[in-house]
Amino acid sequence: DREGSLRPRMFNQYIGQKAIKDELQVYIKAACQRQEALDHVLLYGPPGLGKTTLAIIIANEMDVAIKTTSGPAIERPGDLVALLNELEAGDVLFIDEIHRLPKIVEEVLYSAMEDFYVDIVIGQGPTAHPVHFTLPPFTLIGATTRAGLLSAPLRDRFGIVAHMNYYTENELTKIVERSADIFKTTISLSGAHEIARRSRGTPRIANRLLKRVRDFAEVAHQDKVDTSIVQYALNLLRVDDHGLDETDRKMLEMMINLYDGGPVGVSTIAANIGEEIETVTEMIEPYLMQSGFIKRTPRGRIVTQAAYEHLRLPYSKKQ
Ligand code: ADE
Repeated sequence: DREGSLRPRMFNQYIGQKAIKDELQVYIKAACQRQEALDHVLLYGPPGLGKTTLAIIIANEMDVAIKTTSGPAIERPGDLVALLNELEAGDVLFIDEIHRLPKIVEEVLYSAMEDFYVDIVIGQGPTAHPVHFTLPPFTLIGATTRAGLLSAPLRDRFGIVAHMNYYTENELTKIVERSADIFKTTISLSGAHEIARRSRGTPRIANRLLKRVRDFAEVAHQDKVDTSIVQYALNLLRVDDHGLDETDRKMLEMMINLYDGGPVGVSTIAANIGEEIETVTEMIEPYLMQSGFIKRTPRGRIVTQAAYEHLRLPYSKKQ
């Protein structure tokens, strides 16, 4: 786990997402006082905001074990039962990308979540027989990029639903300073802020940029990371001052050059920039939308005037 050393392990080390943190701390305390498992938790929000980190912290704060898996990794009901079987009372099962769980597995999960049992069929043909497993009370933590990707019956079985939002520049600055500290790298406040400003509200990106900037500083024999080396490194990495990278700009420029700024359907966008549709909707689009560079309309996505200005292209659209 390459992010491992930077991950905060307890809430008091976790920066940002204050509303979620405050709420979860109450539920955790209440569950601990009753000596019960925490209710199931659904975490949703864009990639890189710390959903896995939060799941690990919840388990640590509850002082229970956590087993981690992902939706696509669980192919059959038996795979799920094998995981559930290893849990002890109160433990956490974390399923990342839970929206990609196969339907037949999802259906087995319903009774597991609600009443802590599963009924599955073992064997095939004449030897096939139903088996009933009772499970210890456990906490399922599911993570997904959008709650709307889940079926209603699955979504409804989570007692706690937390929507994670992009971090503010101040929060990201603190995260960069904390990470630099862990790396034993000296960074100026304005250098940390410059990285924060270009990290699209996302700690994973901030930490990645910090690592690259540190490489540049070390090779240049600079013992302190300052704003000028951050700017130098990020310009070479082609991360612009809004944090847009080449893929983001490619998408905007393609929409402008080929479709006069739109509206363009998402499958057309994906085909034209050589990305999967899901990559566009889950990873590229959310931040462009949040930054006001594209808008969603019933007929497709459109590029906003702000994006033309950011790209220094003439805006001549009759709206
Ligand atoms: N590293 C990544 N995300 C973090 C967060 N939210 N708080 C502290 N350190 C982090």
